[in-house]
Amino acid sequence: MATHAPDLEWLPGDVPKAEGFDDTYFSKAGGLLETRHVFLAGNKLPERFQGRASFAIAELGFGTGLNFLTTLAALREVPAAPRLLFVSFELFPMSKDQLTRALGAFPEIDAFAAALANVWKPESGWNRWRVGDAELLLGIGDARQLIGELASPEAGKPEGTVQIPAVDAWFFDGFSPAKNPELWDEELLRKAADLTSDDGTLATYTAAGWVRRNLQAAGFKVEKVSGFAGKREMVIGRKG
Ligand SMILES: C[S@@+](CC[C@H](N)C(=O)[O-])C[C@H]1O[C@@H](n2cnc3c(N)ncnc32)[C@H](O)[C@@H]1O
Repeated sequence: MATHAPDLEWLPGDVPKAEGFDDTYFSKAGGLLETRHVFLAGNKLPERFQGRASFAIAELGFGTGLNFLTTLAALREVPAAPRLLFVSFELFPMSKDQLTRALGAFPEIDAFAAALANVWKPESGWNRWRVGDAELLLGIGDARQLIGELASPEAGKPEGTVQIPAVDAWFFDGFSPAKNPELWDEELLRKAADLTSDDGTLATYTAAGWVRRNLQAAGFKVEKVSGFAGKREMVIGRKG
């Protein structure tokens, strides 16, 4: 099935903004620093990579791949790093040109960005690629449907499911909840919680009250901590 690249406006510094959602893919104050603050530090990474043979991260909203690639760069710095599986979802995959332009603003990750561009040929459904030191499992389509096709080991092996290990850390990175409520949907977050290991964690840049309530209803314990660059608060949490 054909995929639909997003219509983009390019803000100063080559920050992409999705016209359909009227929102940017990452902070205008610095996407890579935002990823490190919100998603890595928010999930106590890279510290939690240490001593692990394997580790699974899942993300809602792949976008430019900046979170994924910044994670790969952090993984590279860890001695005896675990095997990393990174699962993500994207309804409107960027074209290779869009992806390359957006990632061009971050020279620190250029080798990883080149490796992603090399395999980037997203097709509807599940795409599985080796990128850098990780395996990327990217679901192209609506996350609300695709997440139901994933099963972690406890679920046995129901027919037609894609097996993944239990998720150790979630990056919840939809566009702003007001503009992209679908990615903050309670049912979707409940399915995310079901796929999470007992000591699994989450991080998200938003502290919107209804998102926190949905996360709690889904089965996560959440708390507010300081946000990135002028954002007073963001949310971290754990299962349980
Ligand atoms: C804030 S951006 C993600 C930024 C990204 N994590 C990065 O590192 O560049 C949100 C992404 O969620 C995607 N999205 C929105 N609704 C979706 C849905 N229902 N299913 C899957 N992806 C969706 C958007 O197309 C967009 O790429």
